[in-house]
Amino acid sequence: MNATLIGSGFGDEGKGRMTDIFSAGADIVVRFQGGNNAGHTITVDGEEYALRLVPSGVVRGKTGVLGNGCVVNLETLFTELDSLRDRGLNPEIYVSKRSHVVFPYHRVLDQAEETAKDDDATAVGTTGNGIGPAYADKTSRRGIRIGELLDPETLRTRLEHVVPQKRAVAEAVFDIETGDEFDVETLFERFRTYSQRLKREDIVVDVSSFLAQREDAAIVFEGAQGTQLDLDHGIYPFVTSSNPTAGGAIVGTGVSPQTVSDGEIIGVVKAYLSRVGSGPMPTEFDEEDAADFREQAGEFGTVTGRPRRTGWLDLPLLRYATRVNGFTAITLSHLDVLAGLDELRVCDAYELDGECIDTAPTSPDEWSQCEPQYEEFETWGDHDWLALAEDGYEALPEEVRAYAEYVSNELGVPIYALGVGPGREATIIQENPLTQRRTPKRET
Ligand code: IMP
Repeated sequence: MNATLIGSGFGDEGKGRMTDIFSAGADIVVRFQGGNNAGHTITVDGEEYALRLVPSGVVRGKTGVLGNGCVVNLETLFTELDSLRDRGLNPEIYVSKRSHVVFPYHRVLDQAEETAKDDDATAVGTTGNGIGPAYADKTSRRGIRIGELLDPETLRTRLEHVVPQKRAVAEAVFDIETGDEFDVETLFERFRTYSQRLKREDIVVDVSSFLAQREDAAIVFEGAQGTQLDLDHGIYPFVTSSNPTAGGAIVGTGVSPQTVSDGEIIGVVKAYLSRVGSGPMPTEFDEEDAADFREQAGEFGTVTGRPRRTGWLDLPLLRYATRVNGFTAITLSHLDVLAGLDELRVCDAYELDGECIDTAPTSPDEWSQCEPQYEEFETWGDHDWLALAEDGYEALPEEVRAYAEYVSNELGVPIYALGVGPGREATIIQENPLTQRRTPKRET
């Protein structure tokens, strides 16, 4: 049995924590897209692990894999590995030969492009980590793969081809005074050192074969970002440059579609909506409510520290995510954060051009014209959430259960886990497909 965990919204739904929970019964945890734009936080016994590239399952001692769909910032990767080792963990991690390298010039160009866009309000609000430019190079076939880094001659040839182009763009288009980030020799030396470390650690593999050879392993595919940030299925152009939806798990690792679809596809849902970056968000709180709520919820970006935008739970958007990903279940977290509100609403449908629609439209213009139609819910007060979590689902206040059951019914899928606080112990697990049952092997 495998499980694929997918963000249902704009990222920051708590995928790291749910991956940690579901990976208890897994052997391997695989990231299949994104890079160090992600920020996955796992809390164990009050100790926090903030991971941006290393798959969340390694905190439980599971094998971590970065698939070909990832873009890899090697400095971040090694810093994370070192820091996990300093904390007494022994992470076992493998990186796809086919994944692409994020170079310093990608970061500079990402930030330059965002600054240039600021003037006409089309800025995406990227994390500034060079993710878009790295994927753009991959798509236009001038990216450099991790596998190519291992051979010094290939690395030099590729850098000699690509760096002058990057330098020309930086200087001519963005008026940047270029330095080491655009210098072939400096880059060659630095990435040669990284490649030596990759070889020493012996962690570069063909991920597709690696996973195929472990056919009895239980795998968790750990999505980063979320459905609404998907390059194809999100609200373009306010998206990231990869496919955080379930199909990405196939393309981004080289497993067969059945490997994903025979398992569970679990949508990670937060009890309200949040996003960093630009783009429409029909259920967004007004400024004053947002400021109060943000403080209460601690909604600041893990990677950038930027205040997150917040709003009511949005069912049209969740129905869309359920369809696009084929969710077989969801998790619902941050229920404790909603305690003590004066009112509690869920957007059930949008009104667009006088029509009622119950799923997301395709363009940001349409989306920004959507008028949310709300259902009101009974609010709940604060509780000893850890004690309630220990006692299980039935111990939760009736109002919390009514809220959760409404969401589950509307989406037509069960809730496998509920979060009432950040740690493992604040998670009520209703069902964990990886620890509870294994699917029989397919007849061939
Ligand atoms: P990029 O991925 O850095 O290019 O940013 C593109 C968009 O995705 C921006 O709106 C970012 O704020 C958003 N984004 C990227 N990664 C994450 C994440 O892990 N959580 C939430 N938003 C993200």
